[in-house]
Formats: sequence, C-alpha cells, structure tokens
Amino acid sequence: MTVVRLRGLTKCYGTDTVVDGIDLDVRRGECFGLLGPNGAGKTTTLRLLLGHTPPTSGSIEVLGYSIPKEARQMRARAGVVPQQDSLDPDFTVVENLYTYASYFGLYGAALEARVAELLELAALTAKANAGVLQLSGGMRRRLTLARSLVNRPDLVILDEPTTGLDPQARQLIWQRLRSLLVTGTTLILTTHYMEEAARLCDRLAILDRGRVLALGSPRDLIAAHIEPRVVEVHGPGVEDWRVHQGQRLATRTEQVGETVFCYTADDRALLADLTNRPELWFIHRPASLEDVFLKLTGRELREAESSSH
Ligand SMILES: Nc1ncnc2c1ncn2[C@@H]1O[C@H](COP(=O)(O)OP(=O)(O)OP(=O)(O)O)[C@@H](O)[C@H]1O
Ligand SMILES: [Mg+2]
Repeated sequence: MTVVRLRGLTKCYGTDTVVDGIDLDVRRGECFGLLGPNGAGKTTTLRLLLGHTPPTSGSIEVLGYSIPKEARQMRARAGVVPQQDSLDPDFTVVENLYTYASYFGLYGAALEARVAELLELAALTAKANAGVLQLSGGMRRRLTLARSLVNRPDLVILDEPTTGLDPQARQLIWQRLRSLLVTGTTLILTTHYMEEAARLCDRLAILDRGRVLALGSPRDLIAAHIEPRVVEVHGPGVEDWRVHQGQRLATRTEQVGETVFCYTADDRALLADLTNRPELWFIHRPASLEDVFLKLTGRELREAESSSH
C-alpha cells in the first residue's frame, strides 16, 4: 500500500524552483530517506507533504488524503519532527507532552499512561519536570521525537532527527525508530549522515536542486552508481601520484580536499603500487552510500552540469 504519492510535485519561490517535478511513492511500513546537500529541497518537500505550504503544481496524496485540501485529517494520523525544534520554552518536559496530547483528545488515565510511556521511550523520565531551556540539544531532540508519537501515528516525518546528537543519543533514536518500523509505522526522514541512511532506510532518494537524482535501496544505489572498491589516499605528493598512478590504476579518481578517492572493481594493482610509497597513507574499503552521494551531488558533476549549459 502506498502511504505517500507525489506526482510532478513542484514548488517555486519567486523565480526559484526549489522542488522540481518530483514523482515518488512511499510504501506502508518502510523507512524512506531523503538525502541531499543543503538547499536541495528536502525540508520543502516535507513541508509540502504535510500541507504546511501549497505546491505550485503537481499532486500530493498522504495516507489516502489529498494534500493540502485534507491536510488536517491527515495530520491527525501523522507525527512530525521538524528540522528546528518547536517545543514550548515556557513549559516543562511533561507539560510539553500534555499540551500536545490534548490536541489529540487524550485525557485522564490514558493521557497519564501515554506521557509516562513517551518519557520512557525518550529516556527523559528523570527530566520530566525540567524546563525545556534546561535540556541539552540532544534531550530536546528526544523530546521532540516523543511528542511526535503522542497520537500513535501511522506515518512519522522526521527532518534531520539526529543532527547534532552524540553517538549514544543517536543510537537511542535509531533503536526507537526501528521499533516503530516493527509495528508497521511508516517513516520518512532526512539526514546528512550517510551511515544513518544506510542503516535505517529501506529505500532512499538522493535529491539535488529539487530533483530526484537516484532512488533505491542503499545496496542497490551503491551497486548501480559506484565501483565496488574504494582506496582513499593522502599524504605529501598525492596530487602527483593521482596524475601518474591513480588515474591509470583506478576506473575513476576524485580529489576531495587533500584526499584522493580511487574507485575500482579491482584494487589489487592500486594497493601493490601504494605499498611502494611509504610517504602516502591509504585505506581501502567497500564503496558506501557516501561515495554515491559525492558522485551524484559532488563538485565534479556540478562542473559538468554548468559547462553543458
Ligand atoms: N519560505 C521560503 N522562501 C523562499 N525560499 C525558500 C523558502 N524555504 C526554502 N527556500 C529555499 O528553497 C531551497 C530549498 O530549501 P530546503 O529548506 O528545502 O533545503 P534542504 O534540502 O532542507 O536543506 P538543508 O539540508 O540545509 O536543511 C533553498 O534554496 C531555500 O533557500
Ligand atoms: Mg532542511
């Protein structure tokens, strides 16, 4: 079953087209990721599907409702973790949860029980009576996640849920999101952490300039877009090495900062060459989602795009 259906979705601000004809289907029970550089149009896409801003053209269907027309009914069955926390700073942790829960008609014992459960889920029971301003950034993020789940949503939309969190807090959020998936909840999230996307997402779309550049499971995206082995090289003279050896021995090379990335199906010749160069440091590893992301949205592609205009 399709939970989100976007067709030709377009959003313009003035003369800027920030979402540019997106077609997407998100299936029930999957974790769907939106990746893309800053300004790619991720938050705008999420705001469009929540009905927070009207599309310039195209159609949006979420949980069977037509958006923005039926956004209110849809939002009753959805949860949202916005990119910027929107907690009430004048309220304590529990007060934030109580207030939000009251919008969904929860009261009495059911409300008490739900709030206790959410505090537990967010590992904030000890902070229940703390003011929002006394929380750390990671605690606020966890509270925002807890708040988004008050109504036991069928769909949770999370805009960078773990940005700025320490590894422990991030792991906790991953665990909670996984347990939501087990119960059949659909998740749509954006992230700049490729490892997070690779671990959590069943499928993802890589977005740039409002367009979907690639769509698929993390594994399929890696297989479709990148050579399977990567050798990263840095050290004195690496640029020279790239020109004389790297480019000859690898299928493709790319320089990012001071590191030369060599992409290849067979890294044996590269590794043999590098063992004779003690001045260069290198690691070799399987290709990752980050490599796909850099290939599709990185500097080389953009130069190619602008020169073709
Ligand atoms: N209300 C607005 N008015 C005008 N331009 C906007 C508005 N909201 C977003 N934009 C522009 O739309 C583009 C996409 O922004 P968006 O917030 O969707 O990016 P993003 O992919 O979420 O980026 P980030 O990773 O930085 O959060 C940007 O160029 C931004 O400046
Ligand atoms: Mg954003």
